[in-house]
Amino acid sequence: MEQTKRINLHTLLGMHAAGEKITVLTCYDATFARVLDLAGVDVLLVGDSLGMVLGGMPTTLSVDMATMVYHTSCVARGARRPWLIADMPFGSYHESPAQAFTNAARLIQAGAQMVKVEGGEWVAPTIRFLVERGMPVCAHVGFTPQAVHALGGFRIQGKNDAAVQQLLRDAEAVAGAGAQMLVLELVPSPVTELLAARIGIPVIGIGAGSHCAGQVLVLHDMLGITQGPVPRFVRNFLHGATSIQEAVANYVAAVKARQFPDDTTHGY
Ligand code: KIV
Repeated sequence: MEQTKRINLHTLLGMHAAGEKITVLTCYDATFARVLDLAGVDVLLVGDSLGMVLGGMPTTLSVDMATMVYHTSCVARGARRPWLIADMPFGSYHESPAQAFTNAARLIQAGAQMVKVEGGEWVAPTIRFLVERGMPVCAHVGFTPQAVHALGGFRIQGKNDAAVQQLLRDAEAVAGAGAQMLVLELVPSPVTELLAARIGIPVIGIGAGSHCAGQVLVLHDMLGITQGPVPRFVRNFLHGATSIQEAVANYVAAVKARQFPDDTTHGY
């Protein structure tokens, strides 16, 4: 039977406290939003990965605010139960907290309930500014796709002691600034375990092993329809399913039952 009670921040923090895994998928349009909703996904992320997935771009860097606002409004019209997070694109929050507030407000007005920003210590004052003004914020550390050029490509992060210490400082800074959720991308599982134990907020992993409060994947990757390279930590959930909704429901069940992901450190 369809679950209809809308998920809010309180629900998500309660799931985390109770040890129930939080399921997240990217979503970019109303039709998929409805399918993912019916399949029981807890959180939809309107990721700036849409530049690569829908737009065929090599990175997320060319995605602009107007595109994020449009896709956020599409997803908001399709989803009833899931919590809705929208990515703030490259350049939309880097100049000042005031710039970030103006752009975050556009995403919230388009139907997002939380905005996501990439970065650690440097972005903490911006997170504090948004949270103090009533906007829930999800931070994103580890491999941060908007910094792909600075990071030297799509690479696993936290591979030596100095990098691990910086990652921990970044996670503590964003959590301390009031971020209520943290996406952690491409980090070895033992580092994830250390980080998740240090901060109280739910850590949502992608290529970060099993020691997370929840899991996020790019929708087109887990359906096996991405054209081009797919990260090796992804599983194709359409295998053996008879519909997209069943594939997504299988993903939800696998994450909730702790059968996905495993702890192998896989890159792209
Ligand atoms: O844009 C996106 O899809 C993301 C996920 C990779 C977490 O940020």
